[in-house]
Amino acid sequence: MTLSLFDEPPPRYEAPQPIAQGAVLLRGFALDQGEALLQAAQQVIAAAPLRHLMTPGGRAMSVGMTNCGALGWVSDRTGYRYSNTDPLSGQPWPAMPACLLDLAKRAAAEAGFGHFNPDACLINRYQPGARLSLHQDRDESDLSAPIVSVSLGLPAVFLFGGLQRGDRSARYGLAHGDVAVWGGASRLAFHGVAPLADGEHPVLGRQRINLTFRRAG
Ligand code: SIN
Ligand code: FE2
Repeated sequence: MTLSLFDEPPPRYEAPQPIAQGAVLLRGFALDQGEALLQAAQQVIAAAPLRHLMTPGGRAMSVGMTNCGALGWVSDRTGYRYSNTDPLSGQPWPAMPACLLDLAKRAAAEAGFGHFNPDACLINRYQPGARLSLHQDRDESDLSAPIVSVSLGLPAVFLFGGLQRGDRSARYGLAHGDVAVWGGASRLAFHGVAPLADGEHPVLGRQRINLTFRRAG
């Protein structure tokens, strides 16, 4: 039997790819669990719906967001912060599903950060055109813990810069199943996501779901 291009096995996780001091890409690390992670994310979304948060400047974010875990990241006219309740319902955020917590811990360990115990998972939903401008993740009280970011669905261009907003940022394609981890010297690196290109993902359709795990409290 001859192997055509279409018979090639899907890419497998191989090894961390360093992108800066303390920052790596784990390409394909979450591939074999994509379906379980998506199901878990959909359960969270059913209990705490995605919403377009208002920035302190008064603009609705293009990315839809929700959270699971003890703490959830929120933004409104008064600023950014972590909250132990969903402002939409007044209820605690849904618990972090075990498969999500397990993946986040394994990815952190693979990137060299042992003992990662995230208490917050921000779920970001990008539709075509949605973007996240360059920012630092700096609302967490424990900056010794890394950020673990899992990409599902449509591919995106991840911007990863330095510690100053004006630093040049490099661009990395993030595909379904890729995980990015940044901590240590890169913990406060500026990062963002370029406007999502339109497309059709076989499982997720016209969207990208990103899960970012943090130690917030
Ligand atoms: C984030 O910075 O919170 C999300 C990054 C991403 O969507 O890849
Ligand atoms: Fe971020």
